[in-house]
Amino acid sequence: MRRAKISVIGAGNVGATTAQYCAMANLGDVVLLDIPQAGDMPKGKALDLFEASPLLGYNANITGTNDYADTANSDVVVVTAGIPRKPGMSRDDLLATNAKIVSSVAEQIAKTSPNAVVIVVSNPLDAMTQRMLEVTKFPPERVIGQAGVLDAARFCAFIAMELNVAVEDVNAMLLGGHGDTMVPLASCASVNGIPVTQLISAERMAEIVDRARTGGGEIVKLLGTGSAFYAPAAATASMVEAIVRDQNRVVAVAAYCDGAYGVDGYYVGVPVVLGDGGVKKIVELQMTDDEKALFNNSVQAVRDLVSTMHGLVG
Ligand code: NAI
Ligand code: 2OP
Repeated sequence: MRRAKISVIGAGNVGATTAQYCAMANLGDVVLLDIPQAGDMPKGKALDLFEASPLLGYNANITGTNDYADTANSDVVVVTAGIPRKPGMSRDDLLATNAKIVSSVAEQIAKTSPNAVVIVVSNPLDAMTQRMLEVTKFPPERVIGQAGVLDAARFCAFIAMELNVAVEDVNAMLLGGHGDTMVPLASCASVNGIPVTQLISAERMAEIVDRARTGGGEIVKLLGTGSAFYAPAAATASMVEAIVRDQNRVVAVAAYCDGAYGVDGYYVGVPVVLGDGGVKKIVELQMTDDEKALFNNSVQAVRDLVSTMHGLVG
């Protein structure tokens, strides 16, 4: 069987770290691409990663490039191209710059890797994923956004911290857009099957939900420059793994909802079955009335952002 080919567009913090995690998990050969203005930087990072392989024991060809020809016929393309936010900025403040960048990247992907599954990471995530679909015209199941896996991981991490239990025993789900309106579902969180609502008071849970919702901003503030990349890259690499290993993972991704959850043709975070070929199925779960109201509010925020984007890039 041929090894999977994984291309990562944008060799910055999230892109290079995603390439590293994909290589370390032996998911396939990795191509790291950045713009010509970045010079040989992607080649340098790719060589550095390859030189780490004898020490860390992974076996992957890792190539750095400025040329989409080197990404041709990728199985999975991860898009991290764009600017990250600085302290005081929201993800939405990145819209104008990143919509143009993602549009140009999408044109190249459509030409060079017409059968790929595309995982968009660039922010504002839900609008950028919609743009990728519009420009590539790929089937929606092959264009998805990374947000829910990261946001749910943050939610799990905070629950584990609160209870002083192993993170691997904590499970959580999260819906909605990748912004401060996202909806961490306390009703679905559990510790090895025990509902978290039995272990943490409603008042304290509300604080944890709030921290999960604003978790990206917390890191931006601490870093002082740029945004989170270790956890985002780990989340992205786990999605790549689900696809190339056809794992049928049930995870929240930004998926195109055309009827599902009552959403009329937008990308929002919902649980899906993720495997070979991308989204195999959107899983519809029951929310409480409060969660449903928050979800609808989050979907409206995504609609508004997409409408602003269409005003900017058509
Ligand atoms: P970064 O600044 O470290 O890297 C971005 C890279 O994109 C740079 O190397 C830049 O040269 C490159 N780039 C710019 N235009 C390009 C183009 N047209 N083609 C190819 N490459 C291009 O930024 P970082 O921290 O890696 O973040 C990247 C994006 O991911 C940002 O928009 C950020 O907001 C987003 N992000 C999203 C997350 C999510 O959960 N969805 C989590 C973390 C970051
Ligand atoms: C995050 O959630 C910036 O979207 C990025 O960390």
